[in-house]
Amino acid sequence: MTGRLKDKVAVVIGSARGIGRAVAEAFGAEGARLALVDWNEDEGRRTAESFNRSNQECIFIKGDVSNRGDLLRAVDDVIGRFGRIDILCQNAGIFPQTLIEDISEDEWDRVLAVNLKGTFLSVQACLPVMRAQGYGRIVLTSSITGPRVGQPRNAHYSATKAGMNGFMRTAALELAPSGITINAVEPGNILTEGITGGGHDEAFFIAQQAAIPMGRLGTPQEVAHAYVFLASDEAAYITGQSIIVDGGQILPEGAVTP
Ligand SMILES: NC(=O)c1ccc[n+]([C@@H]2O[C@H](COP(=O)([O-])OP(=O)(O)OC[C@H]3O[C@@H](n4cnc5c(N)ncnc54)[C@H](O)[C@@H]3O)[C@@H](O)[C@H]2O)c1
Repeated sequence: MTGRLKDKVAVVIGSARGIGRAVAEAFGAEGARLALVDWNEDEGRRTAESFNRSNQECIFIKGDVSNRGDLLRAVDDVIGRFGRIDILCQNAGIFPQTLIEDISEDEWDRVLAVNLKGTFLSVQACLPVMRAQGYGRIVLTSSITGPRVGQPRNAHYSATKAGMNGFMRTAALELAPSGITINAVEPGNILTEGITGGGHDEAFFIAQQAAIPMGRLGTPQEVAHAYVFLASDEAAYITGQSIIVDGGQILPEGAVTP
């Protein structure tokens, strides 16, 4: 690693495990000081402790991304400890698998509250600090599902991820004059605890694998490199854009044959 994020302070929301954990680890490996925010306190603390053991400066803050008060407290804690916030990664997301006729109003509201409102709230909470600094790098975890493709049982999820991209484009316009960029990563199918424990049967994984030209699901580490780039000064002139990291999944016109 080359210290591309040396001395930057990075807040990663939804980082106890999965993609967020890999992103935080990659930021730390590039020299960033880390604040992990997650509603899962046990797993979040364990992750932060493991980073500390490998000599990364890292704190854990318990918080629900859909709760404004939690986010404002988290920002206060990070400022108290590190004095600034250079990078915000909003990665927290939930993806219950439900057909449209079976989605309850509560489930719809919950998915929108975490994935979409959480994105708005976390960006809003960090804005005063980033505007005062005249500097910020915001990276959102979107998805190919919604912005690029559809997937049965993902109607609410797809709506949130497409919504995140729309939010990002307008935010990019509002934030550009303050030296703040906002971009997104759109992962394809990535092997995380959330996916393997998410109620998918074996047929799902076989079908996904068959639909991916590279013939396999991705790893969280493979996705994390895109976040490091967007969070770094190498991406200083990029805003309002997304990078698809999907092993070519959205490209085929028909079934993928070897
Ligand atoms: N894994 C994939 O294939 C894939 C593909 C595209 C997009 N994504 C997106 O990537 C992100 C991470 O997915 P993952 O597969 O790593 O999931 P995961 O379930 O393995 O990890 C998600 C993390 O976010 C935390 N979290 C969830 N809700 C939260 C909340 N309200 N407040 C704070 N923390 C919360 C969880 O505790 C967990 O630590 C999500 O936004 C997901 O939509 C995942």
